[in-house]
Amino acid sequence: MRKTLVVGNWKMNQSLGDIEAFFTTVKASNFTDEAWIAPQALHLSKLIELAPKNFKTGAQNCSYENSGAFTGEVSPTSLKELGCEFVILGHSERRAIFKETHEELNLKVKKALVNNLKVIFCIGETLEERESGKIEAVLGEQLKKGLQGVSSSDVIVAYEPVWAIGTGVTATPAQAQETHEFVRKFLKEETELNAEETLILYGGSVKPDNAKELFSCADIDGGLVGGASLKAESFMGLYGK
Ligand code: PGA
Repeated sequence: MRKTLVVGNWKMNQSLGDIEAFFTTVKASNFTDEAWIAPQALHLSKLIELAPKNFKTGAQNCSYENSGAFTGEVSPTSLKELGCEFVILGHSERRAIFKETHEELNLKVKKALVNNLKVIFCIGETLEERESGKIEAVLGEQLKKGLQGVSSSDVIVAYEPVWAIGTGVTATPAQAQETHEFVRKFLKEETELNAEETLILYGGSVKPDNAKELFSCADIDGGLVGGASLKAESFMGLYGK
């Protein structure tokens, strides 16, 4: 039985003061649902220190090596040592801005898993790719190459159409469900993951007022949320609280 999961991706946002305010509000609200948050790497310790037990803290990226001469990179071993429980890999911003390749991402996924970090592996198509009918080819390639040789139950997939991220334009529940159904079928037929047990999150302008409808679709197991996860009231609102 798959659970519903909400993961906040704070990207390069939030000051230390914002984080303190977030948890002050959460703690005053008796919020006990399981919640995952990925702050900037520099704020991971702060979150681990402040977050109540129902929160898991994770990173937005990590290296494909544990240590060595990789100036500016984040070691998966150090993330684990610090108390992180998961890492987001292959976000469309990492793919587009930082030019992360399928091969590099596959190495990162494997290295994170070896370090006992859960992996949220992101996939998604651009508007141009959707409109030119390439959606299944694009998502299929991202899944096949990024998850090659990966069979771990610690992998979660996040489908985030690039055109819906930070734009206020959300895929309709029907559009999202159709794509999630494809992703689950593809996982079953073309990868080594247990497709029925793998959580597939939707991401892209999820907000308190559209979360319930999206998360109630058969193949949507929750959300990866940016903007609407920054303020505690809005984050808890994603749970209908
Ligand atoms: P958004 O971002 O919710 O602000 O659209 C989602 C994401 O990039 O993970």
